[in-house]
Amino acid sequence: MNQEWMDLDTPTLLLDKPTLLANIRKMSDFAKENKVNLRPHIKTHKSVEIARLELEHGAIGITTAKLEEAEVMASAGMMDILVAYPVSSPAKIERIISLLSKGVDLKVSVDNLEQIKLLQKALEKSGHTLEVWIKVNSGLNRCGVEPGESAVELAKAVLFLSQLRVGGIFTHAGHSYGARGQEELERIAAAEAEAVVSSAEACEKAGIPIPVRSVGSTPTYRISGKVEGVTEVRPGNAVFFDSIQVGLGVADREDCALSVLASVVGVYPDRIVLDAGSKTLCLDKGAHGLDSVKGFGYVLGHPELTIERLSEEHGVAVFDSRCDLRLNDKVRIIPNHACTVANMFEEYTLVEGAFVVDRWKVDARGKRK
Ligand SMILES: Cc1ncc(COP(=O)(O)O)c(C=O)c1O
Repeated sequence: MNQEWMDLDTPTLLLDKPTLLANIRKMSDFAKENKVNLRPHIKTHKSVEIARLELEHGAIGITTAKLEEAEVMASAGMMDILVAYPVSSPAKIERIISLLSKGVDLKVSVDNLEQIKLLQKALEKSGHTLEVWIKVNSGLNRCGVEPGESAVELAKAVLFLSQLRVGGIFTHAGHSYGARGQEELERIAAAEAEAVVSSAEACEKAGIPIPVRSVGSTPTYRISGKVEGVTEVRPGNAVFFDSIQVGLGVADREDCALSVLASVVGVYPDRIVLDAGSKTLCLDKGAHGLDSVKGFGYVLGHPELTIERLSEEHGVAVFDSRCDLRLNDKVRIIPNHACTVANMFEEYTLVEGAFVVDRWKVDARGKRK
């Protein structure tokens, strides 16, 4: 492949291969150094090739949000999968059973009595057993039982269900994305680890062993993953990083592996227009808002530009004094949120230096069931 990426038509999703590999190594080195397991969340890349790379670098398994993501990865041979999402509908439980029938070592998030009863009932019929991980709320206030006694009560309830067994306790400190500064980040990460470890210890005191105590979010895992009693980390975004992570101080711009190659399609006295709108860059400024994230992506090499507005296929970048870009010039944009942007594309164009070195599918793109 002797093609230069600058010659590609746009918009195109570029993935810098050396940076990707460095990011994967950083996650696996952290896990090795701190003697914790690594179970990366593949919702970031939705790619079989990248999940395989993560496993080759020492990940013990993967995390998915959606069952469809698990199905795509399982059909590519990945067998150790945590579905970190509340699953309770009959249609989805049937798909869990189907994955179990294929020999997938599946773990499913649980956080309430009604859900575990629904799982039990369907599994009694099929004869399968399922490992469940209790999700605890460490402050995000999304899903999860409260840490401590509520987790113990749910674990005890599982003991009475013949087809279920508790394999772990986990949490996701997604509110770390709203942290204003390192101190707050450290507080959130400490609370994340405490929620999991204290719940696991309370369960063990009640006679229920909890072998896995799992934490994870890119902003926090390097802090919470060091806490005594934590056995596993689940970073997702850290495989790519993005402008939100740079804004949080979690990554440098050079760590960002993913970028969108876009062209200038209009030049005006106070703005240029790029062929990357909301269907490419997404309207994402981070779920929890961040003052340090300006605009809808960072245009590399053009600090004078702010992508101020997006319509579906247009990105309007404004500047104060001057901008030398001309019609058909190309720019690389580091997205605000790499996970949502990757989901918009069919494939990654792998680049190294000036050259295209490979193309990989975004295998589970658009999968949301
Ligand atoms: C349950 C769970 N684990 C891990 C992650 C990974 O988080 P991040 O992408 O911040 O690393 C997420 C992200 O949504 C999640 O929901």
